[in-house]
Amino acid sequence: MVIQPTVEPVRSLYVHVPFCAQKCSYCAFYSEASSGELVNRYVGALLVELGLVAADLKPETVFFGGGTPSLLNLKQWGRVFERLEGLGLLGAAEWTIECNPATVSLDKAQLFRSYGVNRVSMGVQSLNEALLDKLGRIHSREMVFKSFDILRQAGFANLNLDLMFAIPGQSLEVWQGTLREALALGSEHLSTYEVIYEDDTPLFAQLQAGEIAEDEDLACAMYEELVTQATGAGLKQYEVANFARDRARESIGPGMIQEVPAYSCRHNLNYWRGGSFYGLGPSATSYVRGVRTKNWSNTPIYCDQLEKGNRAVKSTEQLAPLARAGETAAFGLRMTAGVEFEEFRQVTGFDLRAEWATEMEELARRGWGQVLPERFRLTSEGLRFADAAAELFLR
Ligand SMILES: C[S@@+](CC[C@H](N)C(=O)[O-])C[C@H]1O[C@@H](n2cnc3c(N)ncnc32)[C@H](O)[C@@H]1O
Ligand code: SF4
Repeated sequence: MVIQPTVEPVRSLYVHVPFCAQKCSYCAFYSEASSGELVNRYVGALLVELGLVAADLKPETVFFGGGTPSLLNLKQWGRVFERLEGLGLLGAAEWTIECNPATVSLDKAQLFRSYGVNRVSMGVQSLNEALLDKLGRIHSREMVFKSFDILRQAGFANLNLDLMFAIPGQSLEVWQGTLREALALGSEHLSTYEVIYEDDTPLFAQLQAGEIAEDEDLACAMYEELVTQATGAGLKQYEVANFARDRARESIGPGMIQEVPAYSCRHNLNYWRGGSFYGLGPSATSYVRGVRTKNWSNTPIYCDQLEKGNRAVKSTEQLAPLARAGETAAFGLRMTAGVEFEEFRQVTGFDLRAEWATEMEELARRGWGQVLPERFRLTSEGLRFADAAAELFLR
């Protein structure tokens, strides 16, 4: 079924690439070691899926994530780009592709640039060889520096690095060193992740077996170090664990106040503000005008469905308006700017001050939240406990 637009088209597109060279020990994202034949089949299915939603899409932000999108070869990328071009889907203001440092090459980076990709997010995780090895990463620290240079050489002026902390065996000193070296690269954006022990991962099994242990105090110290070093290096914190470079205030116009730094990830801002988006590829979630759908987390089934001309949707959920608004508040709180009352009312139809007055008061009492005339936001202490704070808003 081809979707016909009845209202404003959706402005945000995510594409999941479900392949990795090998699985990292902590990762529960849907991806598997690739075989050439299945990757080609996936690309063919993705081209069909793009055609099924194109009429309802006018992407301002595009994000190819994974998995490891950079694992696709030049020919496979060429097919994807030509299809996007044929469907009139090029030209997004922000177009990100996630890359693993082991799979970056100059010709691939140049191909990306030639079609308008303007942001690369590189999964670095650590700059300590022993930890990289333990995490099952396929790249060395040297490859990070080399790939960063290649991306700059290809003309990328907006780069993100992903780093992980509270990794078992990672001392505060090692984290300090990784932060120092990563920040010295001068990327425009930094995303950090405290390790999550996901079910069915080797890391979780090690925790269960008592081979490793969590250390909450150390994780807190690492988070503090992160905020100190990242802001000290000129990045602005705009979300619990995301930092971005800003442009000079003059460049945004006199008297204008900028809520988020210039190099914030606009694609993620749309998620956190409760905007609609299409998610294509195996396991991807879409959220379009209040309806959430999820694709099959199985690449052969995904391909079968699309080869028959069907969307590869496994489940559909129509969220009740209040539940949807609660989720939007919970995500919005993760941003340092918090939730702006008027914008929230326009997006969700609910008044945060009326529906969640008790919760906001409770957070303010704990010193975690701050009620301002136009918005509610978490304090720097509250940001550390953003997950617990966010839960209060779910309905
Ligand atoms: C979906 S992954 C894709 C990145 C890319 N595949 C790579 O690893 O190079 C995005 C980021 O999520 C983070 N991540 C994945 N699993 C995690 C976990 N269990 N705990 C914390 N962070 C995790 C990693 O920092 C990773 O870079
Ligand atoms: S962290 Fe990235 S490279 Fe590692 S398994 Fe997950 S998606 Fe693949």
